[in-house]
Order: sequence, then C-alpha cells, then structure tokens
Amino acid sequence: VRLQSMQVSAYDLAVIGGGVIGLACAWRLAQDGAAVAVIDPAPGQGASYAAAGMLAPVTEIHSGEEAVLRLGLEAAERYPAFVAELEQSSGSAVGYRACGTLTVALDAGDSAVLDDVADLQRRLGLRVQALTGREGRRLEPLLAPGIRSAALVEGDHQVDGRCLTAALQVAAERAGAVVVRRSAAAVTTRADRVTGVRLDDGTELATGAVVLAAGARCGDLDGVPGEALPPVRPVKGQVLRLRVPPAYRPFLSRTVRGTVRGFPVYLVPREDGELVVGATQEEQGYDETVTAGAVYQLLRDAHALVPALTELPLVESTARLRPGSPDNAPVVGPTALDGLVAATGHHRNGILLADVTARAVAALVRDGVLPPEMAPFAAHRFQTRAMTEGALR
Ligand code: GLY
Repeated sequence: VRLQSMQVSAYDLAVIGGGVIGLACAWRLAQDGAAVAVIDPAPGQGASYAAAGMLAPVTEIHSGEEAVLRLGLEAAERYPAFVAELEQSSGSAVGYRACGTLTVALDAGDSAVLDDVADLQRRLGLRVQALTGREGRRLEPLLAPGIRSAALVEGDHQVDGRCLTAALQVAAERAGAVVVRRSAAAVTTRADRVTGVRLDDGTELATGAVVLAAGARCGDLDGVPGEALPPVRPVKGQVLRLRVPPAYRPFLSRTVRGTVRGFPVYLVPREDGELVVGATQEEQGYDETVTAGAVYQLLRDAHALVPALTELPLVESTARLRPGSPDNAPVVGPTALDGLVAATGHHRNGILLADVTARAVAALVRDGVLPPEMAPFAAHRFQTRAMTEGALR
C-alpha cells in the first residue's frame, strides 16, 4: 500500500467518469494532443448503459427549458457528422437511425397533453405534424386501435447508446487517452488549485486539470470544496429491453412515445431488433434496484400503446441514475476550484449532448473560454447563487 501510494503518473488532464460524456471529452481532448487519463472502474456502465439513445430535442421539450432546446437542436443537427467521424475513428457502427418520432395519445386527457406540447413546439417554430389516431396507425400498424391522436416529429432520431459509448472508448484510446479502471477517491489540491487525482488504491495521478464527468456521482468526491462540486442529484430511470424476433420485424419503424393516463412511456426500436421501453423518473437517492412496480408500469403502459408487445421476449431490466441539476440543464465549465472543470447535469439528454459538451470542454481547455452555445450552462451559474446564499447566512 505504501509503495502504491507513492506511484505517480503524470497527465495533462484526468477525466473522472467514463460514461458517454467523459469518454467524448477524453476523445476530443486527446485529439487536441493532450495526455488524458479517464478514470472509471467500469466505463460505460453508468447512466449511459441504460440510455435509450433518443436524439429528441423536440419531443423531449419541457416548457421553460428553451435554452436546453436550442442546445439540443444544434447537437441534433451536428449528430450525423459526429457519428460519421466517430465510426471512422473507432471502426465500429453506433446504430444511428434517422427514423423520426411519433408521439401518441390514448385517451382525451392524454390527447389534451399532446395538444399542449404541440402548441408549445409550434410557438417555438419547431416542426411537428398533428395526426389523427387513424393516421398514426397508418404509420405504425401495431399501435392500439384506441389511439386517439398522434404527432409526428420527423427530426427526432436515435442512436444505440451502448455502441456509442464503446466506440467513444475505442476512439479515445486510439487518440492516445488511457483508461484507468479504478475509482477516483479524491481530487488533490495545492494552494486552491487542482494537482491531480488520488485513486481508491492510493495511487496518485498528477494532472494539470480534472474534468468531472461522473454523472450523478459528481458530488461523491473528497478534496473538492463544497462550492466547487456541481449541484447534481440522482434521478433514477428504470428501463426494459425486449427483442423483436426476425419474423415480427420491423414491429415499429420509428420511436413511439406517449402518455398513458398521465404516465409517460417510450418505445425505441433498433435496427438490430432490440426494443427499448422506458423510463421511470424517480428521485430517491442512490438506488439502482429494479422494482416489480416499475416493470409492471412500463409494460402496462407500453402494452396500452402497442398491444403486440406482450409477445416479445423480455431480455433485460435495468435501473441507472441520471444526473439532474437544479434547472435540469447541463453543468459545464470552470468551477470554484482552479483546474476543476464540470461536465455533468445532462439529465435526460446525455447521449444527445455528448459531443457539444466535449467540444465545449476541449475549447475551454484550448482557449480558456466556453464557446457561446455552452455559456448558458456554465457551472458557475450555481456557484454565484451558492456564494450569495453563503454570504447571507
Ligand atoms: N431521455 C430519456 C430518458 O432519460 O428517459
């Protein structure tokens, strides 16, 4: 132990967290020529592992979150180029599917919700096409006959989050990044500046800066003053994976989502026959258990929209934690601790926002400033508040 604690490796940057955000940051930073270490005991096994991979800024819209919408639209537009570059660099496909999204409503209440969302989307100049239930069923014949209305968003696509994360790891490693399969125990500092990361085995990595991309677990790190920790909380999502046998394909041709008696549910069909059904949104701390109630609710509601679903093999149930921030928007950029950069808070949009975030972090390291599109999501928007509150106490 004593020997290990004296080992020191030096990198320009350490990225804590090897999910989609951390790996994307590592890739872009390594492309810029930095010596990068990604620290994660199990890369790609956190929230990215559960993600359905919807690239859906328009259908994921929430009123009052227009800034996230703009960032998401920009990210969605750049996605095909990002995918092309990543597939080329990694040599593996990431399952990008430009399939569009159909939102459906089951009863009058669900239909009213759908109308309200469509109104908001149109007010913001977004492209959405209102359909009758019959028109929706023409697009997706396996929809329940009782579907009341639907809305088609042709620009909301999908990618396979697991393939994406795996490809990012390969691309980052090929660009020179090193993946260290350990947990980060602490950030080390001297004179209020980051000097490195101490791992759970006592090893120290000396680094010029640390990118904190540990999702919902960003708060769980010694050595960082409270005001520099990004204010993220775990938002649990339970999600199911079913398999569409070849004889039943395509089953669904695009993402189908809706509210069923007030509960949101989505079904994301992959080209390879995987069908992802999600997701719950629960706030109860660091709990990753799959519950019978959630599996029941997801299957009940998905079945209400697509009754044939009960014929499919259920192959997986997973629970992971999204990193939610106080305003549900990303938390990116310099923090109150010199040399500590946040890249978290992506909540329901981590897959979509991975590359815009990584480019912003790389630009910050290169030029010293966040690019304008990321400025509204700067981490210090919360620090100012925390410091003011601190001063008032
Ligand atoms: N973006 C879908 C989810 O977080 O469940």
